[in-house]
Amino acid sequence: MKINSKQYRTVWLEGSDVKLINQILLPHKFEIFTCKNHKETADAIKTMIVRGAGAIGATAAYGVAQAVLEANNKDFLEYIKNAIITLKNTRPTAQNLFTGIDFVFNSIKNIKNIEEAKKIAVEKANEFADYDAESCRKIGEFGNNLIKNNFNVLTHCNAGWLAFVDWGSATSPLFLANRNGKKIFVYVDETRPRNQGSKLTAWELVNENVPHAIIADNAAGFYMKQGKIDLLITGADRIAANGDVANKIGTYEKAVLAKENNIPFYVAAPTTTFDLNCESGDKIPIEERNAEEVSHMFGVDEKGNFAKIRIAPKESQVKNPAFDVTSAKYVTGIITEKGVIKPTRGDIGRFVRDKRLNKQ
Ligand code: MRU
Repeated sequence: MKINSKQYRTVWLEGSDVKLINQILLPHKFEIFTCKNHKETADAIKTMIVRGAGAIGATAAYGVAQAVLEANNKDFLEYIKNAIITLKNTRPTAQNLFTGIDFVFNSIKNIKNIEEAKKIAVEKANEFADYDAESCRKIGEFGNNLIKNNFNVLTHCNAGWLAFVDWGSATSPLFLANRNGKKIFVYVDETRPRNQGSKLTAWELVNENVPHAIIADNAAGFYMKQGKIDLLITGADRIAANGDVANKIGTYEKAVLAKENNIPFYVAAPTTTFDLNCESGDKIPIEERNAEEVSHMFGVDEKGNFAKIRIAPKESQVKNPAFDVTSAKYVTGIITEKGVIKPTRGDIGRFVRDKRLNKQ
């Protein structure tokens, strides 16, 4: 994606530094954040300077590469294994994080020559990031076929290019349809509590000149019932072997409402998001995040200064699950880089198993 006419990726490696677009400051300020070592990279994932399943997968893959570059001959594997524990402990739900880490580690763990291992680790982390970008591009092509001229599409959270290395999953078909001259309109759920929809998806749509409106999360049902929505597309953080989908909190209720109103509900995700070891959605770990995300708001004041303000009583308890699980029965199809598949064990087994990354 281009920002001020310059092509960017969400994350990349420069020497041994991991470079990220600082997503906490968007849409108000565009800034590149540098992580000098794997600990800083883990911290950037944990604090959500980088967020979104694909983006944290690629970032964590680069974090492993950094650890390999940092490790010395004496305790080489031990050092990398500890770094992996740190990177895996950042966020629990998005499968891509674990896929990315394991992909890089598995490709170096048996290499005896340390210099060779360092070279391969960097190559494999770049390969993982490239795979993510290319998968999302292909998701755009398959998803574009589902979008007719004059379609109104609803999306939730940010499964855009900021949530991946490039293109995004849910947004990729929208960008392509718009670039191909189809008339589309996007309803963007603001996505409380962190507002990834109004802060990030809307900013991407502005950059791509896609007509859209931000709506309060509670308004989605209103527009569905009025017949204003033709299609829902969201991303996914983890998809279980039976087709149940974990995605940003609030997705489940949108999917149920879509079924009630006979609107197709598609999930867009690369195969790196599938967890075939996870039998069903109730086994997916759901992250509980900081209470301040609900009790406070973060943004800029009229002078453009960043500010955090309290919006709830100090005395109130807060609960803040970051994701929910939508049962496969509500999912019309999953748009992957291999094609649009059904949320069934059969299709998932056939398309995903042994067909991702270098096992294609
Ligand atoms: O908590 P986040 O912002 O990292 O959550 C991830 C998401 O943005 C969504 O759940 C998204 O729809 C899927 S991630 C590609």
